[in-house]
Amino acid sequence: MHERFKFRNPEDLLSKAESLGLRLPFSDDISPLLQPAALENKIIPNRFVVQPMEGYDSEADGTPSDLTRRRYMRYSSGGSGIVWFEAIAVDPDGRSNPRQLMLTEKNLGIYKKLISGMRENHTGKHPQLLAAQITHSGRYSRPAGGNAPLVPSKNALLDRGNERILSDEELFSVQKKFIKTAKLAFDAGFDAVDIKACHGYLIHELLFSFNREKSLYGGRDPEGRFRFLLETIERTRENVPGIIVTTRINLCDLYAGGFGTTPDGKGCDLSEALLLTGELEKRGVKIINTTMGSPYFNPHVVRPYDNPLPGAPVPPEHPLEGVVRMTEGTGTLQKNYPGIMIIGSAYSWLRHFSLNVGAGVLKEGLASFIGFGRNSFAYPGMPRDIIRNGAPDKSKFCITCSGCTRLMKNLRPAGCVIHDREIYGAELKKLIADGR
Ligand SMILES: Cc1cc2nc3c(=O)[nH]c(=O)nc-3n(C[C@H](O)[C@H](O)[C@H](O)COP(=O)(O)O)c2cc1C
Ligand code: SF4
Repeated sequence: MHERFKFRNPEDLLSKAESLGLRLPFSDDISPLLQPAALENKIIPNRFVVQPMEGYDSEADGTPSDLTRRRYMRYSSGGSGIVWFEAIAVDPDGRSNPRQLMLTEKNLGIYKKLISGMRENHTGKHPQLLAAQITHSGRYSRPAGGNAPLVPSKNALLDRGNERILSDEELFSVQKKFIKTAKLAFDAGFDAVDIKACHGYLIHELLFSFNREKSLYGGRDPEGRFRFLLETIERTRENVPGIIVTTRINLCDLYAGGFGTTPDGKGCDLSEALLLTGELEKRGVKIINTTMGSPYFNPHVVRPYDNPLPGAPVPPEHPLEGVVRMTEGTGTLQKNYPGIMIIGSAYSWLRHFSLNVGAGVLKEGLASFIGFGRNSFAYPGMPRDIIRNGAPDKSKFCITCSGCTRLMKNLRPAGCVIHDREIYGAELKKLIADGR
């Protein structure tokens, strides 16, 4: 049964997990989170990752706005080892919303300034790793605000009726745009580029396009379904030497017919994610960011929460089940591929215990980095406080109220309505005044 967070001490949390038959990794010693890590020729200062979080606040042409800049400057001074930039569309038709970032020749200078500002803003012995997540929203493209889905194949569960299937030529042209954007990301000063393959967007959907016919991409065979992602990674590496190429993948979707899911849609089958990770390793990928589920279809799987969006159903499971599904999933990947650094996700529901659980995960070798999504909106300076003061400020953690998602779903700039109230609390008030 779903339950809101109410745990005052580790014993209560751990005994709840036990009563649900779940094993929650846990360590009183959080120092593993502060250990540096070597990646290619770089030293990443610690194990905290700002997960990609769309802010819905770019200028109309995708250029970072003052609000975008503010978010990233907070992340750079916040002290996380990695700042993984939110989804940046490679093509206007593949934008998920009219305020999604784009990186173009025209706005390259603005990105260069943003990246150099972040570099200056971050203090510490080793620089942060800055990764650009680049994407085509596919089925969830809404460049002008309304649905304009571009899909690799029909899907009885997900189709709404106005989908257009992309031809191989069109996919190839999208691939070229990924490579072009990766080159721009390198020129802007990013260390890494993430060829996004999660959350139901175009490249992720290709991974489970079982019924795409007469095409190089998709089909029953994993070789065809994985081809587009693997080719895009290979071609990016060839064309943009010097940038670290990575990807964010779903370990499982948890709906019938989805990636890495049992036929009844109720369980994860990690064999596909393991197979894909093996192929990524063969292509020299050294770090992978992981997630699960679909923000459109089963959001509690992506991000366990206390409060659903207004009008949305209460999730059918305890949030701890979502947390443990992720730690077990990343653990399986990490144990099978010790040569790849796996970034875990979905920790924010745990509030300050996320540090103990994250440290436990690192100690047990169940992931190499601990990613924070909503908590990075709420408390971007958490790593800095731990480094400087030895402990975080418990009053600043995300409370998984879904306020930021509510803003995003209504195409408003997204941020923390609780802890960044002046800007985003005010946005929520406007939204409510508009009757939304
Ligand atoms: C407002 C919002 C925006 C998000 N934007 C992205 C995104 O651009 N790319 C991505 O891969 N995931 C995105 N996510 C998912 C997060 O990266 C993360 O996986 C999720 O919130 C679970 O982590 P948490 O429990 O720390 O919040 C977003 C989530 C939220 C709530
Ligand atoms: S609005 Fe703030 S507290 Fe609520 S879920 Fe988003 S980041 Fe967390």
